Amino acid sequence: MNDTLRGVVVPLVYLLSAALFIFGLKRMSRVRTARSGNAVASLAMLLAVVGTLVELGHIDYRWILAGLAVGSAIGAVVAARVPMTSMPELVALLNGFGGAASTLVALSVYWVDVVEPGRVGTAASVMGGAGAATAVLSVLIGTVTFSGSLVAFGKLKGTLSGNPVLLPGRHVLNVLLLLGTLGAGTWFGFYAAEPSTGVALVLAMTGVALVLGVLLVLPIGGADMPVVVSLLNSYSGVAASATGFVIGNNLLIISGAMVGAAGLILTRIMCVAMNRSLVSVVMGGFGGEEAAAAGGKEEYTNVRSAGAEEAAMVLEAASSVVVVPGYGLAVAQAQHAVRELADLLQKRGARISYAIHPVAGRMPGHMNVLLAEADVPYEQLVEMEQINPEFHNTDVVLVLGANDVVNPAAETKTDSPIYGMPILEVHHAKTVFVVKRSLGSGYAGVKNELFEYPNTMMIFGDAKKVLQDLVSELKHL
Ligand code: TAP
Repeated sequence: MNDTLRGVVVPLVYLLSAALFIFGLKRMSRVRTARSGNAVASLAMLLAVVGTLVELGHIDYRWILAGLAVGSAIGAVVAARVPMTSMPELVALLNGFGGAASTLVALSVYWVDVVEPGRVGTAASVMGGAGAATAVLSVLIGTVTFSGSLVAFGKLKGTLSGNPVLLPGRHVLNVLLLLGTLGAGTWFGFYAAEPSTGVALVLAMTGVALVLGVLLVLPIGGADMPVVVSLLNSYSGVAASATGFVIGNNLLIISGAMVGAAGLILTRIMCVAMNRSLVSVVMGGFGGEEAAAAGGKEEYTNVRSAGAEEAAMVLEAASSVVVVPGYGLAVAQAQHAVRELADLLQKRGARISYAIHPVAGRMPGHMNVLLAEADVPYEQLVEMEQINPEFHNTDVVLVLGANDVVNPAAETKTDSPIYGMPILEVHHAKTVFVVKRSLGSGYAGVKNELFEYPNTMMIFGDAKKVLQDLVSELKHL
């Protein structure tokens, strides 16, 4: 392809790719269209890669093909193997890799443009002022994202303790480290004329940014980790966008900005749904094993329990049933069993809905994806705001492995860590069955007042097993 043609084709491919990214993202905001949105965004990514290769022209494809083969193989194996419950830690890892990629690209541009040719002069004089400044930002944000994401991954996976690690004077230390990286970055970009000084400074900046990323995430407790992952996702987008300026690639600037904005919007949605301010999340100190232990100590005095037979009889007589899925349903992999029960009840004339709390489970949309796996009709999935007024007229609520998201203490107990978190107001229903293995606490580690309500009955057991028992009891009624 000659240069003139390339000059026309490449921007058009980039434009199409950017438009498809936006279109794909839009489709991902609805459960019904999310799958196709993902496919559209993948196509946009393919176009972006093709556009970049065409733009580069004569290149050695062997490295590219080797990278593609290795990356695709690892990606395919990981995607096939990772359980849904481990998705947040995979996302954390991928964010980290995104940040690392931005850092490496920015560093390689400096290496190729300045160090390798042995040019004397500041990075700004060779790469331009904007080029040097964005390279510094790319390295700084990319590296913080990388090391912060690794800590988040370790906390989610349980390799690192989920407890907040609160070092004395950590805020001052973090500010000093940030100033240190910015100082080294400014010196590197605008004042260091010798390549050897530039290399030393950029390495120092990267090292300090690595430490900063670790220290920023360590004080944050396990319960807030998904919010942190979403925030780091936003950072990885900002780093990619800065890298787009370094290499002069408009598409990278656009797609990075979209990831940055989407991550920030998601972070806000999660904070609102958990009633946590972003500042309090970032400052750290909430969640982890200590909170869970504190919750576990609280005693329950008045709990009633039921068996599958009794529950099946109540369900059989119900004309409206609301299912509340939670994290435990995902752990038990009981999505198909719940669908079977719902079908059975529907055939007997009951109206079935699923109440979806925005932070039920361990990541945004967790319950939607889980239920979609069992082909639960989308129309039956009802958001919290819509279903809450309905509970007064509901005969039976079946809470399946959910805990915090149905805890009335969020409305009544001002000293509770979850006070103010919007909940599914299941306690207004005529009868509530809570299916879980014990009286153990949920993620926030607090006692659940719902278990002692007069209209609540616990059904102890693994969610899948209990649902299977309910199905077989109903079939015999
Ligand atoms: P949780 O409050 O975490 O409760 C889950 C319950 O499932 C546990 O109490 C557990 O009780 C039960 N369980 C575990 N395995 C089970 C099994 N095999 N069968 C039956 N039950 C089982 O879950 P939730 O109500 O979905 O609330 C989500 C929590 O995560 C909230 O605190 C939320 O703030 C937090 N969080 C969510 C997100 C997102 S984006 N979703 C992000 C950050 C934090 P037993 O051990 O007694 O069985």
